[in-house]
Amino acid sequence: MEKTTAAHGGGARWLPRLVLLAILSATPWLLIVYCHRAAPVRAPRQSLVTAAPASGREDGAQPRFPSVQEQQVKKLLIASAAGGEVRRSSDVGVAGEDACRGRYLYVHDLPPRFNADVLADCKHWYPWIDMCQYLVNGGLGEPLDNADGVFADEGWYATDHFGLDVIFHARVRQYECLTDNSSRAAAVFVPFYAGFDVVRNLWSNNATDKDAAAVELVDWLTRRPEWRAMGGRDHFFMSGRTAWDHQRQTDSDSEWGNKLLRLPAVWNMTVLFVEKVPWTDFDFAVPYPTYFHPAKDADVLQWQQRMRGMKREFLFSFAGGERPGDPNSIRHHLIRECGASSFCNLVQCRKSEKNCLVPSTFMRVFQGARFCLQPPGDTYTRRSAFDAILAGCVPVFFHPDSAYTQYRWHLPDDRDSYSVFISEEDVRSGNASSVEETLRRIPQEVAERMTETVIGLIPRLVYADPRSKLETLRDAVDVTLEAVIDRVSELRKEMGHGDLTQTGTKVSSKVKADN
Ligand SMILES: *[C@@H]1O[C@H](CO)[C@@H](O)[C@H](O)[C@H]1NC(C)=O
Ligand SMILES: *[C@@H]1O[C@H](CO)[C@@H](O)[C@H](O)[C@H]1NC(C)=O
Ligand SMILES: *[C@@H]1O[C@H](CO)[C@@H](O)[C@H](O)[C@H]1NC(C)=O
Ligand SMILES: *[C@@H]1O[C@H](CO)[C@@H](O)[C@H](O)[C@H]1NC(C)=O
Repeated sequence: MEKTTAAHGGGARWLPRLVLLAILSATPWLLIVYCHRAAPVRAPRQSLVTAAPASGREDGAQPRFPSVQEQQVKKLLIASAAGGEVRRSSDVGVAGEDACRGRYLYVHDLPPRFNADVLADCKHWYPWIDMCQYLVNGGLGEPLDNADGVFADEGWYATDHFGLDVIFHARVRQYECLTDNSSRAAAVFVPFYAGFDVVRNLWSNNATDKDAAAVELVDWLTRRPEWRAMGGRDHFFMSGRTAWDHQRQTDSDSEWGNKLLRLPAVWNMTVLFVEKVPWTDFDFAVPYPTYFHPAKDADVLQWQQRMRGMKREFLFSFAGGERPGDPNSIRHHLIRECGASSFCNLVQCRKSEKNCLVPSTFMRVFQGARFCLQPPGDTYTRRSAFDAILAGCVPVFFHPDSAYTQYRWHLPDDRDSYSVFISEEDVRSGNASSVEETLRRIPQEVAERMTETVIGLIPRLVYADPRSKLETLRDAVDVTLEAVIDRVSELRKEMGHGDLTQTGTKVSSKVKADN
């Protein structure tokens, strides 16, 4: 049935979908907990207990990436404690100026067939599971109970890792600078549920059906006056799936996915995915949703504090399954090495392993490890990388497309500050030193500084509860909207359409990933 789209040069890592489907159909929970197989978690024979990382700014030097944001938050909290007015960091501007100037967002009022109606059939999207349970609570899913004590009592949900369409839309509605007047807008959001739309037809054998909504959407959009202003260059939309699901190369009924990304009008827009394709420049990756959806700043700050205090008894950990159908996969190497090392905590997910069906399993393992291995799976990226970061575990990547080329808006440019890179080839050839040796060579104070950087990234990687609003912290959506608006502003200037921010104060409080 589903064929590897080898036409993709660089190539996605298409597990034969049938294998995946077989696993998924056996265990619905795997949908949200990645396909892991498990072995019992072994106790460490030798503890690598390290003290909680130093929390102070170390040795001056350059301010680390999240520090600007942290300091801002501290100031605001102090101001708030002192009875001062807490303002959103983004509102800081000259008195009397329109703080939203140059940042207004216009949201298209789409016919419901492009969003609300797409959700109507959630019961039947997948043959083996009713996905409607993942759409409740603004798309966050059902609350997770904290019986195991690895979450917090509030703010944790069984979120589908491909469920961002609804969460993102709900969060955009909370944006502080919405406008009804599209000619004032810096960018135009198109709330099309592109991910859920493709899902409802993924198992269909009819290319026309798979493409119908995307083709209709483009037809609808391009007739609108809002489109004509910039030929759609100021428009953006999101799919909570990977770009691979929207890359069908032929009109063959049996080929995977739809052809959204082959529609010329789409090339004019900015498209958001949880994983982009490497060779296009109009699509951008945003973080996968995790289980954590804080409703207020304090939830985030408390969580960060708690992760700083974790005893990380294992040097590294791996949670996941092998990919026996994928000749490129290095997972079996990693599972072998992790399983053989007393410094590594392995959760090997085999079929029907109950541990792997429970989100708390992974959070516990990640909270107890210094480094978390994040090899490619079915595609280059993994939701697990974001779960690991949330747990304060430093991710170890094996391919640049697993993070560095993907989440440019959300992760620092200095990849060594928050992650370790070991190339796949080195693992495969066995020529390089082992993963364990590589990690053990990292001095403890360096590792602790990385942990602290990772924990500092948490606010900008989480999707806040869309039913409320963080007071001062900027979440993944805030970061995304600012980046999209910056991009559109550049395009607008290139097109000679002037600069909406010109007469305004530079209100951007961007925590730039570079420098
Ligand atoms: C929309 O904004 C433009 C530019 O700021 C302005 O000229 C126009 O009058 C506004 N339209 C309405 C209906 O407010
Ligand atoms: C696919 O669906 C369309 C209508 O949705 C129909 O006209 C067409 O005949 C179908 N094609 C096949 C091969 O079944
Ligand atoms: C895309 O934008 C270009 C201008 O940059 C424009 O000429 C073209 O017509 C636009 N495409 C569509 C489908 O609107
Ligand atoms: C193995 O490592 C050595 C030393 O780093 C290097 O010279 C050699 O080219 C490597 N061989 C392969 C196959 O990568």
